[in-house]
Amino acid sequence: MGKPLSTLVFLLLFINCVYSWKKDEFRNCNQTPFCKRARSRKPGSCSLIAADVSISDGDLVAKLIPKESSQENPAKPLVLTISAYQDGVMRLKIDEDQTLAPPRKKRFEVPDVIVPEFLNKKLWLQRLKEERIEGGLVISSVVYLSEGYEGVIRHDPFEVFVRESGENGKKVLSLNSNGLFDFEQLKENKEDNEDWEEKFRTHTDKRPYGPQSISFDVSFYDADFPTKGPGVDDSEPYRLFNLDVFEYAHDSPFGLYGSVPFMTSHGKSRGSSGFFWLNAAEMQIDVFSPGWNNEYSSVLMLPTDQKRVDTLWMSEAGVVDAFFFIGPKPKDVVRQYTSVTGTSALPQSFAIAYHQCRWNYRDEEDVYNVDAKFDEHDIPYDVLWLDIEHTDGKRYFTWDKMLFPNPEEMQNKLAAKGRRMVTIVDPHIKRDESYYIHKEASEKGYYVKDSSGKDFDGWCWSGSSSYIDMVNPEIRSWWAEKFSYENYVGSTPSLYIWNDMNEPSVFNGPEVSMPRDALHHGDVEHRELHNAYGYYFHMATAEGLVKRNDGKDRPFVLSRAFFPGSQRYGAVWTGDNSADWDHLRVSVPMTLTLGLTGISFSGADIGGFFGNPDTELLVRWYQLGAYYPFFRGHAHHDTKRREPWLFGERNTELMREAIHIRYMLLPYFYTLFREANATGIPVIRPLWMEFPSDEKTFSNDEAFMVGNGLLVQGIYTQRAKHVSVYLPGDESWYDMKSGSAYKGRAIHKLEALEDSIPSFQRAGTIIPRKDRFRRSSTQMEYDPYTLVIALNSSKSAEGELYVDDGKTFEFQQGSYIHRRFTFSNGRLTSSNAGPATAGDHKYVSECTVERIILLGLSTQPKTALIEPENRKVDITWGPLLLRGGPGPSVLTIRKPNVRIADDWTIQIL
Ligand SMILES: *[C@@H]1O[C@H](CO)[C@@H](O)[C@H](O)[C@H]1NC(C)=O
Ligand SMILES: *[C@@H]1O[C@H](CO)[C@@H](O)[C@H](O)[C@H]1NC(C)=O
Repeated sequence: MGKPLSTLVFLLLFINCVYSWKKDEFRNCNQTPFCKRARSRKPGSCSLIAADVSISDGDLVAKLIPKESSQENPAKPLVLTISAYQDGVMRLKIDEDQTLAPPRKKRFEVPDVIVPEFLNKKLWLQRLKEERIEGGLVISSVVYLSEGYEGVIRHDPFEVFVRESGENGKKVLSLNSNGLFDFEQLKENKEDNEDWEEKFRTHTDKRPYGPQSISFDVSFYDADFPTKGPGVDDSEPYRLFNLDVFEYAHDSPFGLYGSVPFMTSHGKSRGSSGFFWLNAAEMQIDVFSPGWNNEYSSVLMLPTDQKRVDTLWMSEAGVVDAFFFIGPKPKDVVRQYTSVTGTSALPQSFAIAYHQCRWNYRDEEDVYNVDAKFDEHDIPYDVLWLDIEHTDGKRYFTWDKMLFPNPEEMQNKLAAKGRRMVTIVDPHIKRDESYYIHKEASEKGYYVKDSSGKDFDGWCWSGSSSYIDMVNPEIRSWWAEKFSYENYVGSTPSLYIWNDMNEPSVFNGPEVSMPRDALHHGDVEHRELHNAYGYYFHMATAEGLVKRNDGKDRPFVLSRAFFPGSQRYGAVWTGDNSADWDHLRVSVPMTLTLGLTGISFSGADIGGFFGNPDTELLVRWYQLGAYYPFFRGHAHHDTKRREPWLFGERNTELMREAIHIRYMLLPYFYTLFREANATGIPVIRPLWMEFPSDEKTFSNDEAFMVGNGLLVQGIYTQRAKHVSVYLPGDESWYDMKSGSAYKGRAIHKLEALEDSIPSFQRAGTIIPRKDRFRRSSTQMEYDPYTLVIALNSSKSAEGELYVDDGKTFEFQQGSYIHRRFTFSNGRLTSSNAGPATAGDHKYVSECTVERIILLGLSTQPKTALIEPENRKVDITWGPLLLRGGPGPSVLTIRKPNVRIADDWTIQIL
């Protein structure tokens, strides 16, 4: 969508004028029976009513039965359960009644996504209040959810909603208000004339269990966002179905590599709310434009005093397991969502620095050359990647012996400079009897089966291949063992992993994926868990990297496919994008959207994977990409080489400068990654997350916040002369390079500079940096810090710094330094923001602060006094040292040399 959804938060991807995208290979809604069926239903057509509503085991339970179920033909009821959890989360489950006749098949509920701690947050519902509404005709049952909010089930017709407390409380979120709920129960047998098979192109899906889809409408209240439907083809819903789409479009609602069925809405008056459906089958979601249901308004009795956005959710299989998040602030919604699915893992510190990738660095010599060139050109980087060609015939965990005869030596040489390597490991396993992985997997029966019960055999990079059944924990554990140093010959502790093609991609399968009637462990059909397949593969791989070091070191695994919870296992990227300005532009809403779904550690391939970026585009991409949480350059093997030194001296300088900015900001980024780990709040954020009541931010997805302190505006057009930036809020902003101040709540038309994209520090914040340049982040470990203080109108500011060993899990025992810096009344104070004592596990650091820059000071102090040492230090007054144009004079405190681990204050006099 052109203006994607700050509101709609699942991954959306995008086309306009990309012709190579083979649209016909993929199903549209009309070719997808459950989608077509759900969309043909009329509002108000659901005839289910809630009966036997009661409290049982701390939950509200009810039966859903058809209003007119005849005696001769009694319909099977559905069972509904509502539970409340701490911090404003309501969960709704609806499934078939398992206590009736033994079910033919248990419908699939996705395991391993909800974190165990969430279940401990359950509130024990005790009281059910009955209300008669609409003139006493309609009964509803009400339960307490959290301070100020109630969960309500209206009985006839059934509707579930969250409202502000009290009979006339405003609605926040509701389900089935438009009466579109539909649940196809599994049937014992085909009815006459019923054909369960589905055909698409040359593929037949046997559908042995027949139709089993679920659909319902969800309404979001008081949402202000301009909800715009899909961009290109307005007739298509958003499709959540993990697919390997070759040369994807930048502006289309079709499915891509990952799916997170979570939507958030935001409005100025009330704030934010969110809805999440835990379901791994194919899903389609419609967002209706206002007035879509006008002709049904008499049947529906919808409240007219509240603005509303209606949506329709449709899934091919599974159960209803839905979560309502009350908000009311945007950050509350992410916090609530990640309390269910987990916050992101804290990466090792090298992983948030710059990664250099290409399909393929050909051989060891190529690797050594590229590595040396980075040094020669004074460009830092941390990780060099090897794509599929490094293997022996696409047999993962092996090396091409001609091209990479000494992989350990190669890794060790790079490790000596503090650098790491990454190799690719995909889920398709070459069916070759002499390949040990295949041999073991086939002997142990660890492959996904086809509908006839044989090992599923599909075509991928490795030719005829089978796919490990990662849904089975035993198999995951076997897989994890493959990463031990003994098993993965040629691997060393500085080698990390990349999981690609895990949607899964099957070149000759329906829609380039696995047939839906393929079978997994426990007789689960692939259709039921398709969207979670890549998630399990990512999980198993991350477990492998943890195990190989006896659980000491944090893993690093990049995955292309993702699902709710992927944030716990590593990074994801936006897949195979293209070298054009539209893809540069769309990389921002894509990474922001991922962040809103808890997947903070993401980025787009710098330069675009397909095609050759012109130099200007590549430079602009580095300038923007330096702020992606995951920062990697990558390219297709048919593209020209594009390492940063290949475009002439001036362009090398520009790309070096962009990468340097990222390295300077690493302490700030790492602090933000820890915040994401502790709270779920993403590293980069849409402006409205920081400024939820400033309407001008609501549809702005060209600019974004890095943490709460930096605003970055991309430049998305060629030869741009000017760039307009909206700076939100009432306080000022300081240009990161010049230190010049700009007014808030205003659009500024700036000259587009060649050497950087606009970035501003928000008044009232303090940002920690490390300004000395090294070859890799590892070599910066002991470097001193720079603190940049941007004063607000009350001449105050605050900020944080989080530091740990950057490598192990020790931080979970309190082994870290977490400081809070506050500046007010001319005094900077550093105090502990972490645990009071960490006992034996205390992390120690001798690092000091070498420079403090104060932006926005109107007086000219003479000196600075450090307490408790009572030591005076020099200050200077002059333009910012950071390369850039002329700017105002700012105050710099030189060499205060205070240790970051200590408490101290610095008073300017
Ligand atoms: C933080 O990350 C670690 C792994 O790096 C994970 O085990 C932990 O659950 C995460 N969350 C919190 C709140 O620490
Ligand atoms: C200025 O910043 C301080 C510290 O962040 C904050 O407490 C204060 O409210 C801010 N003042 C204004 C006017 O925003």
